[in-house]
Amino acid sequence: MSVLTQKEAPGLSVAEDFLPLKGTDYVELYVSNSKQAAHYYKTAFGFQDFAYKGLETGEKDIESYVVAQDKIRLVLTSPLHSDSAIGRHIDKHGDGVKVIALWVDDATDAWKQTTSRGAKSFMEPTVEEDEHGRVVRSGIHIYGEVVHIFVERKDYHGLFLPGYNAWKTDYHPTTVGLKYVDHMVGNVALGRMNHWVNFYEEVMGFRNILTFDDKDISTEYTALMSKVMSSGNGFIKFPINEPAAGKKKSQVEEYLDFYEDEGVQHLAVATDNIIDTVTKLKARGVEFLRVPSTYYDTILDRVGTIDEDLAPLKELGILIDRDDEGYLLQLFTKPVQSRPTMFFEIIQRKGAKSFGKGNFKALFEAIEREQELRGTL
Ligand code: FE2
Repeated sequence: MSVLTQKEAPGLSVAEDFLPLKGTDYVELYVSNSKQAAHYYKTAFGFQDFAYKGLETGEKDIESYVVAQDKIRLVLTSPLHSDSAIGRHIDKHGDGVKVIALWVDDATDAWKQTTSRGAKSFMEPTVEEDEHGRVVRSGIHIYGEVVHIFVERKDYHGLFLPGYNAWKTDYHPTTVGLKYVDHMVGNVALGRMNHWVNFYEEVMGFRNILTFDDKDISTEYTALMSKVMSSGNGFIKFPINEPAAGKKKSQVEEYLDFYEDEGVQHLAVATDNIIDTVTKLKARGVEFLRVPSTYYDTILDRVGTIDEDLAPLKELGILIDRDDEGYLLQLFTKPVQSRPTMFFEIIQRKGAKSFGKGNFKALFEAIEREQELRGTL
């Protein structure tokens, strides 16, 4: 792992952040059954009813349920008829992330700044209005069929977006303490990582803050390479993975085979109390990757003193890593749809700003055991 000094995007000073991003606004998944997906994310992950659009709101072709937990908003969208772009997306990829929406002050400027630097437009700046005000959205393509949508909502006082009503049901599973999107990871094809690193640097003003090569991330069988991109103000982090040559098929290759494209590999969501959060998630049926219990025999030698008791961490299989600034606790779910593609990471940061490099080997061996069971190693 190499920690790079703050590197200027070509032609720009570090102080000049031409694309100030305020946070992740929402993440939209195209799913085959949005109604059941919404129930799953409520029941299993503790999301809450938030917003809805569909036949009842005058929508003819799609249905979207929006579920929320603290700052995290998931939009779950399905088509209502055959032969639609969304239907074709689901047919090709299975369920997966279509939109990583980014909150900005000026969606028109964000679109101009990025498209003038080479981004391919997905949506020209578009004003949407209702009685609660106006929202401007614009969008650009990134890897695979994934897009960024820039959301300007400073003149909007409604719940979510124009076109959506509040979604209210009588079913309210409690939250599990998930707070915000910490990072989102993209899997790209062999040889394409640096293309997307350059895209984020040149088109979006991000910096490459961490690099992992195949020596950092390899087991006896499989390898991958990863670079972590951070927005100018550091609020948004997108690691980008590509497969590396190994004796067997890497998890990134397995993803690319089953997603049949580049796409979002995992959403990392933050909690202030990972022991409590993971205890609740497990009780609700969320399945996690498991490292061997021997992982815990020497863990404190590696990470030093931590605030938590080791026993519950070991019991739940929570992983620990330390960097120069502190430590972090993390755990990864198994894929959350039929295809072995997208999964979630639960992360609690206690000072550490890194991504758990010390856990990669144990983690990838755990993934390989799952791949072995699937016959895809
Ligand atoms: Fe991660």
